[in-house]
Amino acid sequence: MDTLKGRDLLSLADLTVDELLYLLDLAAKLKSGMVKLQRNKVLGLLFSKASTRTRVSFSVAMYQLGGQVIDLNPNVTQVSRGEPLVDTARVLDRYLDILAIRTFEHKDLETFAEYAKIPVINALTDLEHPCQVLADLMTVQECFGSLSGLTLAYFGDGNNMANSLLLGCAMVGMNVRIATPTDYQPNGEIVEQAKAIADGKTEVIITTDATSAMQDVQVVYTDVWASMGQEEEARMRIPIFQPYQVNEKLMELAAKDAIVLHCLPAHRDEEITDAVIEGPQSRVWDEAENRMHVQKALLATLLGSD
Ligand code: CP
Repeated sequence: MDTLKGRDLLSLADLTVDELLYLLDLAAKLKSGMVKLQRNKVLGLLFSKASTRTRVSFSVAMYQLGGQVIDLNPNVTQVSRGEPLVDTARVLDRYLDILAIRTFEHKDLETFAEYAKIPVINALTDLEHPCQVLADLMTVQECFGSLSGLTLAYFGDGNNMANSLLLGCAMVGMNVRIATPTDYQPNGEIVEQAKAIADGKTEVIITTDATSAMQDVQVVYTDVWASMGQEEEARMRIPIFQPYQVNEKLMELAAKDAIVLHCLPAHRDEEITDAVIEGPQSRVWDEAENRMHVQKALLATLLGSD
């Protein structure tokens, strides 16, 4: 799709609905057979936080497309010694073909995208995790055959996952319910953005009531109660988040054919019980695999086929 070539992906809202659906379709095609498109292209991974899935799935996706990867751990670059982002961005732009960034502040990602002309991909910020949601939607589509009209409920912290799920579900015509404690709701601007996209045609519900959120949903989603950088708060959060634990009792309220997703890593018997994540409704391993397929589609499309 030529409209995507050379673009950045900082937020799911950077895509049109047609572009998002095109990526899911291309990912499914790539999953069914090897395609080599990006010989000699180089992807940089500038990750300021730990990562297993994102780092490995982007790397393998790029290798399978015929390209190369440079792991730019900030500790081995001048970033850790305070080189301004605007300088790093302009220099990396001269070497690389595409750059995936994992960082804390979303505005740092936006600064990179402003100063680097190459496509910049959000590999997770504190505000959004769009690549994860592309893989989640691909997994839901594989399980149910379509997306429109399904209902996803997310339980736990109103974090970057909740924000990106709000946008992704609204864009593809899914109902979305976010159940969080009062003081841990998703980003207000993104909630309004999702409501504007849904335009009254699908549900966008923010609630503190986990029981009502779970009623008859087809897709159950959760994430850790304390994200990277919030480790000191983790113990204090446990009693606050306990009513939002995805366990066998809460799962009884979901649709009979409901699936369970988790972006991983998971803290068993905190946000999700061992019985549920290892149970018959769990699709978390397919979901993790799909990171690779959907990011391959994203890389191929943002780079173009020349
Ligand atoms: N889901 C996810 O982004 O996993 P990693 O933190 O391991 O990359």
